[in-house]
Amino acid sequence: MTRASAILGVGSALPDQVVGNDRFPGSSDEWVRSRTGIRERRFASEGETASTLAVAAARPALKSAGVDPAAVDLVIVATVSGDQPLPTTAAYVQKELGTGGGGFDLGAACAGFVYGLAVADTMVTAGASDMALVVGTEVLSRFINIEDRSTAVLFGDGAGAALVGASDEPGILTSLLELDGSHSEMLTIPGGGSALPATAETVAGHEHTIHMPDGGEIFRRAVVAMADACSRVLDKAGVTADDVTLLIPHQANERIIRAVAKRLGFPMERVVLDIETVGNTSAASVPIALDHAWRAGRLSPGDHLLTVAFGGGLTWGANLVRWTAEAPS
Ligand code: ACO
Repeated sequence: MTRASAILGVGSALPDQVVGNDRFPGSSDEWVRSRTGIRERRFASEGETASTLAVAAARPALKSAGVDPAAVDLVIVATVSGDQPLPTTAAYVQKELGTGGGGFDLGAACAGFVYGLAVADTMVTAGASDMALVVGTEVLSRFINIEDRSTAVLFGDGAGAALVGASDEPGILTSLLELDGSHSEMLTIPGGGSALPATAETVAGHEHTIHMPDGGEIFRRAVVAMADACSRVLDKAGVTADDVTLLIPHQANERIIRAVAKRLGFPMERVVLDIETVGNTSAASVPIALDHAWRAGRLSPGDHLLTVAFGGGLTWGANLVRWTAEAPS
């Protein structure tokens, strides 16, 4: 029998600090709600980091699967806001949870979890891993310029995790990954790397915060790319949109999500939307939405689930999953 992989459990964590739209200078609640669908987001408090949120999301994922952390032999942490440049954020997650085997960070921006799921599937089906923990975690509140109203209002902090293990029945059916570096300038944190190391000038010039010169163009590209990725992944698996119980898109903007669903002919009742209270949590957004949907009873074993994401890089991708996990107790 061919070895397959499946999602055995999921979990998520949001910081306690709720931040409303009134906290951003020059902005209005009406503008942010009508343009993005965001009413509030969570920001990490002092002491909370990408790794602490990752651990807080991983624990319920492990618990719901009934898996001991020591049985995990691969930790993949998808993030662009890790604790530090060195070590890998996965090191802090490994230490806190006591997982075995290897681990690393994966930087694919908002598509990070979709990429991580594809890597975990490949490692597990190849027999290189028996139990992989994939976490999307971000603390982008530490990388925003609060005075840049057109980007600051978009992002929130949080983490989501999925445990991927070997299975006789295929769970993760297929994935599609794309990267187009010719438009990398559309979303950057210019400073802090080897190209522009930190100096007093780079800090004063807000070079360590998110730069997004043309949000409208990202919007247009996200709609086209996410709809295309969904169609291609469905074709690859020989599954139709009608067979999909839930579409879990990256939560960047409610209008993007509605436009993707419209292009695919997908009714909004089968689309997961939690952007209103979570905001855009980049790599964490898909697993947080997945965890919320599962715990709300929207997924049962045998259902087909389609995840799709798009972000800086530009990176994008999709996974088609046959759901296997029993409802959480
Ligand atoms: N409050 C009030 N006014 C604002 C705000 C704000 N927070 N932000 C921008 N404005 C102003 C702009 O300055 C502009 O004013 P102007 O006409 O005087 O120049 C006006 O509102 C209209 O701006 P638009 O850019 O036309 O607004 P649009 O409808 O395109 O929405 C938005 C902007 C929300 C950024 C949208 O383009 C978007 O969501 N794009 C996708 C970007 C994104 O999601 N990036 C995250 C990372 S990538 C990803 O996750 C997919």
